[in-house]
Amino acid sequence: MQPPFSRFVSVVALTWVCSLPVPIMAQSPDDDAANTRWQLDAMIHLQRMRAFHDKDTGAQPTPATIPQRAMDADLSGIISTYQPNGDTQTSSNAFFQNLGTNGRTCFTCHQTQTAWSVSAQSVQDRFNASSGNDPIFRLVDGANCPNADVSTLQNKLQAYSLLLSKGLIRIGLPIPANTEFQVSVVNDPYNCNTNPTTGLLSPTSGIVSIYRRPLPSTNLGFLSAVMWDGREPSLLSQSVDATLGHAQANASPSAAQQQQIVNFENGLFTAQRMDDAAKNLDADGATGGPVSLQAQLSSFYIGINDPLGGNPTNAQIYPQNIQPFSGLDQPFWNGWRQSKSLGGRTWRDDFQQCTNQHYRCCGAQ
Ligand code: HEC
Repeated sequence: MQPPFSRFVSVVALTWVCSLPVPIMAQSPDDDAANTRWQLDAMIHLQRMRAFHDKDTGAQPTPATIPQRAMDADLSGIISTYQPNGDTQTSSNAFFQNLGTNGRTCFTCHQTQTAWSVSAQSVQDRFNASSGNDPIFRLVDGANCPNADVSTLQNKLQAYSLLLSKGLIRIGLPIPANTEFQVSVVNDPYNCNTNPTTGLLSPTSGIVSIYRRPLPSTNLGFLSAVMWDGREPSLLSQSVDATLGHAQANASPSAAQQQQIVNFENGLFTAQRMDDAAKNLDADGATGGPVSLQAQLSSFYIGINDPLGGNPTNAQIYPQNIQPFSGLDQPFWNGWRQSKSLGGRTWRDDFQQCTNQHYRCCGAQ
């Protein structure tokens, strides 16, 4: 049966009017004063949202241990997280500790079984298990808008509809100073963007609510930027802002807590380990799965094997470098390959064709 909240989903539509383009200056976020100001204004907005009180309290349910090799069923097989440094005891790690005022921890939105993010299904399960009291359901950014009515269970289903149906968290971002665009049209089904307390003050100032799925806090050694818009200069600063913002803390985590969080995150490697049809993705010569992924980190650099010629060493693309499933030549894989109806072609033929077309297709079928 369709859950009732799915009927209420609607998306805020904003129209941006751009003025003449200005050349983009390459600059590191660390020394970008405009970026720092933008982030600060986003944090000020989050702090202002304390005006909207949560009645719900309650701690984040958390397993005692994240094992060195965690395995969880997903829609197509098994997803796995590998920690080269061994098990993590959650009670003594800041990633899992309640460092704020609303019961949330980093684990509230970054969970093992959903690749260190959340899925819509997992959020719905948590809603049903807790009658909407689980700490992910907090007004500041769990609700479509912090001013939402959450006085009854039915109201909560509406208030958290984007989180429940799509796993989205509200990110309130200020329109940057000296912007090159203005907001000319607003469709505001949640009474958020047009409300001056939570939204816009004018076409060029105030807050725009953007709804984003938590990015996975795993495989971070391969990142080229932190956050969807790259606004965080480092994982350390990200841990501070997440604590002050999502968890509505009164103070930043200590330097030791920040480091512990970042060390933990940097020690996570996550990948699909087993596919229901293809079976083990790290057997018979195939090098899928998180253990193989971790082994690649030491030789990784941004731009490696760039198909568009962006490799800083000027090396040309070398398609044979990308061969996690070269073991598909094994008899075991042949059965699977035939089941995928490739006719006379081999998986390698298709892959070669893909790479020749500059990765416009990237599936193995
Ligand atoms: C209420 C949910 C929520 C909580 C709690 C939360 N996060 Fe996140 N996290 C998000 C969302 C949403 C994003 C993406 C936001 C964006 O890009 O604007 C994100 C992004 C991230 C990223 C960026 C990954 C990338 O690929 O750039 C990291 C790292 C991260 N979070 C770590 C943490 C840590 C550490 C904590 C605890 C201190 C934490 N998060 C708490 C929702 C949450």
